[in-house]
Amino acid sequence: MTVEAAARATAAPAPLDVDRIAAEFPILAREVGGKPLTYLDSAATAQKPRAVLDALHSALAEHNANVHRGVYPLAQESTALFEGARRTVAEWIGAAYEEVVFTKNVTEAINLVAYSWGRANVGPGDRVLITEMEHHSNIVPWQLLARERGAELRYVPVTADGRLDLDALDRELAQSPALVGVVHISNTLGTINDVETIVARAHRMGARVLVDGAQAAPHLPIDVKAIDADFYAFTGHKAYGPTGIGVLFAKRELLEEMPPFLAGGDMISRVDLQESTWNQVPWKFEAGTTPFAEAIALAAALDWMGGIGMDAIAAHEADVVSYAVDRLGEVPGLRIFGPTAQPRGTGVSFALEGVHPHDVAEILGRDGVCIRAGHHCTQPLMRRLGVPATSRASFAVHNKRADVDRLVDGLAEVRRIFGLS
Ligand SMILES: Cc1ncc(COP(=O)(O)O)c(C=O)c1O
Repeated sequence: MTVEAAARATAAPAPLDVDRIAAEFPILAREVGGKPLTYLDSAATAQKPRAVLDALHSALAEHNANVHRGVYPLAQESTALFEGARRTVAEWIGAAYEEVVFTKNVTEAINLVAYSWGRANVGPGDRVLITEMEHHSNIVPWQLLARERGAELRYVPVTADGRLDLDALDRELAQSPALVGVVHISNTLGTINDVETIVARAHRMGARVLVDGAQAAPHLPIDVKAIDADFYAFTGHKAYGPTGIGVLFAKRELLEEMPPFLAGGDMISRVDLQESTWNQVPWKFEAGTTPFAEAIALAAALDWMGGIGMDAIAAHEADVVSYAVDRLGEVPGLRIFGPTAQPRGTGVSFALEGVHPHDVAEILGRDGVCIRAGHHCTQPLMRRLGVPATSRASFAVHNKRADVDRLVDGLAEVRRIFGLS
């Protein structure tokens, strides 16, 4: 989705019954240390609504049999549910059914591309271009590939306001990199990258593009055909789904020509003593018993989001995040990293002058307010920002302005404890 499309999606607020939505998350009824839970760490992992928990339970309690193997009715049932989940994911992102590969998470999806496509297509002297705002999972696989193949890993710099330097991107693209890897929404800065434009420019220079959609999938409608990415990956547990399940979209012609990644059961057509032939795509890339219960529950998560409506989710989150940016701006000594205006993602990173981010998170945690502190698996970006770590509050559809108020009250308490007010 372009920045303009994101702006349109966030421009039409659809009123949501957020209390009703929050009531669908059993964990949000919990207290921590006698305090109600205010969960502001959905960018790390989202909490799960009952529909997802029920789907996971039902897959294991009522339909459990290994998929693609048994001919008895229960096995056919589980296989149909699993492949139905693939169809749900495909429709959700606008892909063909065969273009959806289930992985363990987005990290495995990117490694799959780096090992399989990368080893076959990146050679000595070639360039792989990524950005300074990538998560480690979209950096380290390319470092390993570059080292192994004698290729060069290049970076698009991040500007002072937390955006990609698009002039530098063009200069790098002029050197014809083999692949461009870019995050759709930065988990640290909240920047929404204009991936449609980046993909179009990269394609004009003959590069393939991988988009890391880990933070986008829970917040924006994804249309891989409109983006025209060659690879688009996301992870289930950040999109209200369970852990252990991720998705790699790849264009069918690429999947067809790519060699296998992991090898073993189910990904083969025939195995002889010395040679094997491969299953059709996408199963060629799904070695061993797949996390079929998790895939079914991920489909339930997508259906659940669809029931609310992605535009309504985006509009509601835009309201809460804008409120958070405004209120955080009132806190003395607080600096926000990344864009402060909409459209932006739902993670808001900040530094409180004179207090280490871990202390901020620890003191807030005593009051039941859960935020993340650390480098957010973006160490190169931290160096670019000139900080070792940040605090990050990240919002989801179940959050309201009152959660922001608790965060800001907690920050006042942090300042009081540190003698800053
Ligand atoms: C932008 C981004 N990419 C990749 C990942 C890695 O996700 P996972 O650990 O589920 O593979 C994350 C998780 O924080 C992320 O935010």
